[in-house]
Amino acid sequence: MSSTTLVTNIGTLVTNDPTQNTGPLGLLHNAAVLIDGPRIAWVGSATAAPPADTAHDAQGRAAIPGFVDSHSHLVFAGDRTQEFNARMSGRAYSAGGIRTTVAATRAATDEALEANVTRYLREALRQGTTTFETKSGYGLTTHDEARALRIASRHTEEVTYLGAHIVSPDYADDPAAYVELVTGEMLDACAPHARWIDVFCEKGAFDGDQARAILTAGKAKGLHPRIHANQLSYGPGVQLAAELDAASADHCTHLTDADVDALANSRTVATLLPGAEFSTRAAWPDARRLLDAGATVALSTDCNPGSSFTSSMPFCIALAVRDMGMTPDEAIWSATAGGAQALRRTDIGRIAPGTRADLVLLDAPSHVHLAYRPGVPLVSEVWQRGVRTT
Ligand code: NIG
Ligand code: FE
Repeated sequence: MSSTTLVTNIGTLVTNDPTQNTGPLGLLHNAAVLIDGPRIAWVGSATAAPPADTAHDAQGRAAIPGFVDSHSHLVFAGDRTQEFNARMSGRAYSAGGIRTTVAATRAATDEALEANVTRYLREALRQGTTTFETKSGYGLTTHDEARALRIASRHTEEVTYLGAHIVSPDYADDPAAYVELVTGEMLDACAPHARWIDVFCEKGAFDGDQARAILTAGKAKGLHPRIHANQLSYGPGVQLAAELDAASADHCTHLTDADVDALANSRTVATLLPGAEFSTRAAWPDARRLLDAGATVALSTDCNPGSSFTSSMPFCIALAVRDMGMTPDEAIWSATAGGAQALRRTDIGRIAPGTRADLVLLDAPSHVHLAYRPGVPLVSEVWQRGVRTT
C-alpha cells in the first residue's frame, strides 16, 4: 500500500478542473490536496480534508499544476553564443544556424549528450516543469537521429522524431533524396523510439508538399504529427497541421485569418513559444487574436541553443502576459493544461482525483505573481509523481 501525504493550507490552488465550477482555472482557496503514491487522490477545502499518513503545510502559499513544456529541443551539444551576440548586434535569425549545432551534436559522445539532457531537464524541473516533450533534429543521419531519440526516451515518454528539421548538409544538392531518407530508412530506425513526428515547415527548410509527405509517412508508422509552422514567415504549415489533425502547430507567429480559423475549428493546439521571439528579436505571436477566435493556446519554451535558450516556463508566462495579450490566468492555463492538450494528455496539467501528483508551490500568495514578479525565482517546491524533488 502506498503512503498518503496531505499538502494543506494552500492559499490559492489552481486546479484547472472545470468541475470545480470556479472559472477556467478551477481556483480554490484555503485548499488541500491528498497525494496517494504517484497520483492525486482528493482535492478540496483544507477544513474538509481526509486523514493522511503525513501532512505538509504549504503555509498559505499558492500552488499550481506542474508546468507541461510541450516543445523543447534538448538533445544537442555546444551552444551558439556567437550567433546570439551577432543577432543582438542586428543580424537576423536564420534556420541555417541549425547546421552549427548539427556538427557539434554529431561529434559528441552519447555520454556528453546524455549529460546535457540531464542538466537542462534538472534546470527545468527546478523551475516547475514536471513534464516535457523533446525532439531529435540535430543529427540528420539515421544513426544520429535514432541515437538522439534513444537518449531522449530515457527521460520522457514525449519524444518527437524531427529528422526533417532542415535538409541535412550532406544532401544540400538533393533535398528530394533527403526527404526519401527521412520517410524511409531513417523513419524505420526512429519510429520505435518516438511518439510524435514533426517537421520544420518553412522557407529554407521543408515546403508544404514535403511536410505533408513526411508527416503522412510518419502517421503510417504510428507516429502522431505536430508541426513547426509559420514561425519566420506566412506559409502552409498551420493549415496542414489542422488538415492532418496534428496535436499542435508550434510557433504560429505569422498567421492569416484563414490560419486562425483553421486552428479555431480543429483539435490542433496553437503552441506559442515566446522565448524564440525574445531571443531572435522578432514580432510576437498574437495570442489574443487566437484566443478571441476560440483556438486553444499552449505556451512552451522551445528550449534550444539557437532560437530560444531558456528552460523557464515562468519566463515564457511573463512574456506572454506582457507582450502577447494574454491575462495571467490564460498564460498559466496555457503553460499547464494547454501543454497537456498539445500532448493529448489528460493525466497531467490538472489537479484532480486520478491525475499525476505534479504540483508546484510558489513563494507567493497568488499564481498571478508568476507574471507580476517577472524574473523572480518563485518556484519553492516541486512535487513530481507524488515525490518532492526540490
Ligand atoms: O523551434 N524552428 C526550428 N527549430 C528551432 C530552432 C533551432 C535552432 O535554431 O537551432 C525552433 O525555433
Ligand atoms: Fe522548436
